[in-house]
Amino acid sequence: MLWSLLFITLIGRSTQQDPVTSSGCSPGWETIKLDDKVAFQSSVYTDQHGVYYTADRALDGNKETCSNTVEQRPISWWTVDLLGLYEISCISIYNRFQDNVDLEGAHILIGNSSERNAADTTECATISTTTREENKTFNCENGPKWGRYVTVYKNTSGLVILCEVTMKGTKKEPFKLIKENKTWADALYHCREEHMDLVSILDNKTQVWVELEAQKADTPFVWLGLHYSCTLDLWFWADDHCVGFDQWADKTRTADCSISGAMNTSGNHLWYKKSVYDKYNFICAV
Ligand SMILES: *[C@@H]1O[C@H](CO)[C@@H](O)[C@H](O)[C@H]1NC(C)=O
Ligand SMILES: *[C@@H]1O[C@H](CO)[C@@H](O)[C@H](O)[C@H]1NC(C)=O
Ligand SMILES: *[C@@H]1O[C@H](CO)[C@@H](O)[C@H](O)[C@H]1NC(C)=O
Ligand SMILES: *[C@@H]1O[C@H](CO)[C@@H](O)[C@H](O)[C@H]1NC(C)=O
Ligand SMILES: *[C@@H]1O[C@H](CO)[C@@H](O)[C@H](O)[C@H]1NC(C)=O
Ligand SMILES: *[C@@H]1O[C@H](CO)[C@@H](O)[C@H](O)[C@H]1NC(C)=O
Repeated sequence: MLWSLLFITLIGRSTQQDPVTSSGCSPGWETIKLDDKVAFQSSVYTDQHGVYYTADRALDGNKETCSNTVEQRPISWWTVDLLGLYEISCISIYNRFQDNVDLEGAHILIGNSSERNAADTTECATISTTTREENKTFNCENGPKWGRYVTVYKNTSGLVILCEVTMKGTKKEPFKLIKENKTWADALYHCREEHMDLVSILDNKTQVWVELEAQKADTPFVWLGLHYSCTLDLWFWADDHCVGFDQWADKTRTADCSISGAMNTSGNHLWYKKSVYDKYNFICAV
């Protein structure tokens, strides 16, 4: 047991002339910008100087500052919310030399919800080394994975310490915010010319993705493909779908002519009836 541990340690050392080495990601993937993303973790270590080792320290581009959970048997985790859907190819973890850095056996999970055990969370890779004093790249097993959240999940005892996390992938957004102020009809025209259509929101999952885009708008509302026919007294989506799932702020469906539906850019992102002549940013399905 002791001998095999020593052996692993020696092998680990001998392949590392440069402490910052990496086996590398498959070529052709872009580095995902992480310093504007949101990270959180199971608990936060505080040192004797009152410094909080928060989750964002693993994304700040500074490899001297680390995130650090406290001992919380048996589970510790760190998660980044990429605030959009990405196809993720690989994740690199850099850790400095520190005795309590030991991620061996931890799992890298990718999912569409922050829940680690959810059906829409899948494993990218199992961490095969401590990551102590190395920059180790993990390619997702069986190919790139799609998701919004990336988690380092240690369900054997020990801490999750991360000095710097980087990842490569491609943004796979089914929707695009257009930061131009247009009337509903001009917005529809723009989406149909340049992309597919103004967005339709047929379920809660789509609502959540569209909310993420809407938050980046510079108008208080964004146009959706939601239109009202006063002759039929009927709401419908620009792509002809009926309105089933809804998020109306005001549940009365009847409206005036020349009314379309827009999402509040902030708050609960409810839908409001707005004059088609108002000019807002808008979201296209791409
Ligand atoms: C996340 O959602 C996307 C788009 O709906 C889907 O393609 C992907 O498989 C999902 N990821 C997981 C881990 O379920
Ligand atoms: C670790 O390796 C990856 C992939 O080569 C690189 O993008 C990243 O900048 C490296 N991280 C550090 C802290 O050197
Ligand atoms: C730890 O988590 C991984 C990934 O979710 C899972 O496959 C494994 O069964 C878990 N192990 C334990 C001991 O709970
Ligand atoms: C929609 O999904 C979000 C995030 O998963 C959840 O917080 C919310 O309660 C859901 N809303 C509805 C109406 O199902
Ligand atoms: C759109 O309108 C908002 C105010 O509603 C303004 O802040 C923004 O600069 C306008 N954008 C363009 C591209 O004109
Ligand atoms: C949109 O949401 C914000 C934040 O919750 C709220 O203050 C504002 O009143 C909402 N807009 C409308 C028209 O209700």
